[in-house]
Amino acid sequence: MNKRFFLIITGFLIVILLVFSYFADRRRIDEKSMVQSDQSNLNQGVSVVMKPVDDETGLIIGPGFNLVKTNCLGCHSGKLITQNRANREAWKATIRWMQQTQNLWDLGENEPKILDYLSKNYAPQQMGRRAPLQDVEWYDLQE
Ligand code: HEC
Repeated sequence: MNKRFFLIITGFLIVILLVFSYFADRRRIDEKSMVQSDQSNLNQGVSVVMKPVDDETGLIIGPGFNLVKTNCLGCHSGKLITQNRANREAWKATIRWMQQTQNLWDLGENEPKILDYLSKNYAPQQMGRRAPLQDVEWYDLQE
């Protein structure tokens, strides 16, 4: 076997190896991010639909996301939002509370949009179990 032929074959093998390891790596990363989103889904309890989540803020991406990103993350992280669940009224009350005590500014015409976003994406969770039985008429077992 001449030397040149040997070098070409070795070079060829190295290239194949590099390409292969690149793709193997990418698959691992894909699998990892899939596992992560599965887990965050578990944390949300029973929700079945997977909503896309912004990596940087942890907030669900949807209409109003940018408004929340610009108005709500100056003083605390998005965690404070994602850890909370409330209906529209309660979200409004939280905003009022921050305005009265924490110097949150007037949100103006953005407020309804922000409330839409919050009450849609961070609504109270569905109960995991059925409600307890009520008004049951019990009867004595006959022998
Ligand atoms: C001017 C600063 C500021 C801005 C802007 C701000 N917050 Fe807050 N927020 C606070 C402070 C301070 C707290 C109390 C933090 C703590 O208890 O550690 C707080 C607490 C909260 C809490 C937790 C309330 C509770 O009952 O525990 C939520 C939820 C929240 N903010 C949501 C929001 C949302 C939604 C926005 C955007 C509309 C927003 N914040 C914008 C200052 C701000």
